[in-house]
Parts: sequence; C-alpha cells; structure tokens
Amino acid sequence: MRPPREDRDAVKTKTQYSCQSCGYASTKWLGRCPGCEAWNSLIEERIEPESRANAARSAALEVAGVHGALIAGGKPWVRLDPEEADPEAGAEPQHLRRFSTGMAELDRVLGGGLVPDSFVLLGGDPGIGKSTLLLQMARGIREKNESLRILYVSGEESVDQIRGRAHRLGVRGRDHIFLAAETRLEEVFATVKELKPHVLIMDSLQTFSTSALESAPGSVSQVRDIAVRLMALAKSAGISIWLVGHVTKDGNIAGPKAVEHMVDTVLYFEAESGQSYRLLRAVKNRFGSSRELGVFEMEGEGLREVRNPSSLFLSDRREPVAGTAITASLEGTRPILVEVQALVASTAFGMPRRTSVGIDAARISLLAAILEKHLRLPLAEHDLFFNVAGGLRLSEPACDLAAAAAICSSAREKPVAPDWVFLGELGLTGEVRRVSHADVRIEEALKLGFRTVVLPANTPKAILDRYSSGDAGKKSGSRSVRLLTIHRVEELPRLFE
Ligand code: TYD
Ligand code: MG
Repeated sequence: MRPPREDRDAVKTKTQYSCQSCGYASTKWLGRCPGCEAWNSLIEERIEPESRANAARSAALEVAGVHGALIAGGKPWVRLDPEEADPEAGAEPQHLRRFSTGMAELDRVLGGGLVPDSFVLLGGDPGIGKSTLLLQMARGIREKNESLRILYVSGEESVDQIRGRAHRLGVRGRDHIFLAAETRLEEVFATVKELKPHVLIMDSLQTFSTSALESAPGSVSQVRDIAVRLMALAKSAGISIWLVGHVTKDGNIAGPKAVEHMVDTVLYFEAESGQSYRLLRAVKNRFGSSRELGVFEMEGEGLREVRNPSSLFLSDRREPVAGTAITASLEGTRPILVEVQALVASTAFGMPRRTSVGIDAARISLLAAILEKHLRLPLAEHDLFFNVAGGLRLSEPACDLAAAAAICSSAREKPVAPDWVFLGELGLTGEVRRVSHADVRIEEALKLGFRTVVLPANTPKAILDRYSSGDAGKKSGSRSVRLLTIHRVEELPRLFE
C-alpha cells in the first residue's frame, strides 16, 4: 500500500534529532543526550536545505547598515589601522564607545557599560525579573543618553501590558522608547528598519519564529536561526541587541544554552528560593570579566541596586558560634564578605557523607583530606555538611582558609571570633598560599568593621606594611586592622585557643 501523500514528502525531507537543551545533534533518537546528559531532550527536527538557511541570513543582512557600521562603506572588510589621511582615523573604534545603562550594577557586570554593537543574552528562570530589569535598563539608557532610541519587542505580552508595567516602573520615553508585540522575526526586522533603534530588546527568544523554518517556535533550529540572524543584525547595523532566554527545566523548548556560543555576552539572572535579592552573573563576556556579579533586590517598585552586598551575605549575629568563618571573595572586581558554615557530625553509617552547598563538593572533600592529614582531625568517621550563607556560590581558592577554619571550628567545637576574616588558598601539602588582591579584600573587611584578618605569610610586603603601620587606622578614622599571618594549616587551631 502506498503511504499517504504527506508521509511520502516526509520521507524525502532529511531530519535529525537535536537536544533541546544543549543543541547536540544526532541522526538517531537517544534517551539521554551525550552532550549535556539531559533525559528525553532529543526531538526530531527537519534539516533545512542550505540555500534556505542562506536566504535567511541575507534577509538579516538586508537591514544592515541602518547606522552604517562596517558594511556601510560598501566593503565587507576594513583595515586594522586606518590610514593617516583617513578622516575617520581619529575616531575611536565602535566597541570602545560604551554607553551607560544608567544602572551601575549592570554597567559593571557588562565590563563598564554597554558596547554599541554587542549581542547580549540574558537567561534566567521565568518570573525572576528579566523583563523588569530590561525595562529599567531602557529607562536608565534614556536618562543617561538623550539621543539613543530603544525598541522593546515582546513576544509574550501585549503592548498595553508592557506599557502598563513600564509606566509603573517609571519608564518614560516619548520619541525614544518604542514597544512592539510581535512574534515573527520578519516583522521585527521591518520595524527595526523603520525605527532604526540603537538598542533592541527581544523578550523572549523562545517566543519568536522565522517563516524560513517550519519547526515550532522554541525548537533548537528556530532558536538558533533567530540568534544567527540577530547576530548579523547587531554586527552589521551596530545595534546592541538583548535577547531574553527562559531557562527551562523540561527539554521541550530550547534553553539559552543552545545559543550561548553565538553571543558576545551571556548574563544569568538568578535568585535563591525564598530570597528577594537577585544575582546577575556574567558567565561569558567578550568585553569584560566573566566573573563579575551584580546584586539587585526585587521590591514593589521594581529592582533596586544593592551597592554594598556584603551585608546581605553576613548574618546579623555577632556572638561567636562554632562552625562559621568569614572570608572576602572577589567577584570580578568587587570583594564581597561572606560567611561559610560547616557542621561536623558523627556519621550514622559506615560511609561518611560530604554535602556542600555553595562550594564545589570536590573542593570540600579535598580540604577535609588536608585537615585530616595535617591536623589529625578525625573527619573520616564524621559526616561533613558545608554551606555558604545567603546562597552565594564561591569558586575562588582564596576562600579555602575560611572553609578550613569553619570545619576545624565545628570539629573542635571552638568558635572563631566573629570579627575575623580569613584569606588564603590551601595546598595539598598544607601550605597556605597567597591570594590575589589581598588589599582590596582587607579594605572591604575594614569598611564593614572587621578587626582581624588572617592571611598568608607570603602576602606582598607592601600590603602587609601598609596595614600594619597604622596607615589604615589613620585612613579610616579610629578603625584599624590586625593582620595575623600564617604559613601552614597546622597553625590554624592555635588561633582559636
Ligand atoms: P518579570 O520581569 O516579569 O520576570 P521574567 O521576565 O524573568 O519572567 O518579573 C516578574 C516578577 O517580578 C513577578 O513575580 C512580580 C515581580 N515584580 C515585583 O515584585 N515588583 C515589580 O515592581 C515588578 C515589575 C515585578
Ligand atoms: Mg518576562
């Protein structure tokens, strides 16, 4: 029997299985993605013929040159250094002329403001505040840069809904901020051509689709095609494009991971459950540090910037308790004081458990082994639970010494003085190694009223001298800091005696 007509057509079309979470492609269906190990995330998609993909790209390039960046001159290339006679010679390259978003936290995470032709991906769970952040950014850009035009395209909300929310957030911009409710990319491009915005916000990636492809909005092929075309637009027209991407738990719609490699900057907006503050984390940034962290708090009137986040991650308690220690972690360029907590309890089973929240569990196991070996702490018969207060994630080895102090303090049931800060990396042989930017960290500790800093003995002499000579005391009024230097982890317990 002949198959029905559609089936015969389908036989001719080539298909592949793509992971909706990471974009891994396979010719056959697999239960678990070998790329990201997600279950049930492979979905069958048609492979578009090459010519159609190219057509999609050239459509993107058609709107190129609205602000006439590279392509405006008619050549697809430029000289690395413009010739002397070139009237443009004195002009700064496009990517150096950053502009402020009006939000200091966001500017810092971006590496010092927004780059005019950058392509930024903002990922995060639904409801975390991505749309709110971008509306506030539109307000900030407007306030700081009179002449810039911003287009906010939403595929999720109607124009009235966005307008209502924008007005509640105090966003105003008669001839400079434009809203559109649209899901077809072709329409968005037509709008861009008409309005010539400097900043284009696309909210969200998973709701847009292009007619060049037949697959559903949110599928890997759609999401990728949209990103390719937006990238071409950003680079050729010199528009800064912000793409919002919902992080999805189930594998049925593609997450931001599928397009991370294409964009200049990847930011994630996160929150610890039950907390009102939000962390904006750069995980990739072609124009700045990818370790930068911005802190906001969600309030009734939108997001408020938290300029001094150390207070968020320290508990209010000031009496000594066993099992906690404080360190200063450098998140990008900013030091943040944070409390680490350890609980050492005798194990109920033969196998001691190591549970860690906020620090890599392997790092904690390593520290436990170092303490067991060099301090003879009986950790092999004990469970070890570890936590970073306030939901911060620490990845710096500079936090090792504080973690070791917390474990040691809990094991010996001796509290660490609450106004002490620990800095130092631990080596396997038990030596305490120096940390970067010790002075920045000491300054932050001083600012928050900490009196004693325990730090590696091989900290640069200039830093040790500066803070021991009483300069710090003079600089910050009557406050001064005591520096305790240590060489090896064996010296740690005597500090608690
Ligand atoms: P939203 O920006 O819509 O999240 P996303 O775009 O990431 O899905 O934020 C929605 C949440 O923020 C919603 O739960 C309500 C809350 N919210 C406030 O608490 N205060 C405000 O001023 C606004 C605008 C939102
Ligand atoms: Mg939203």
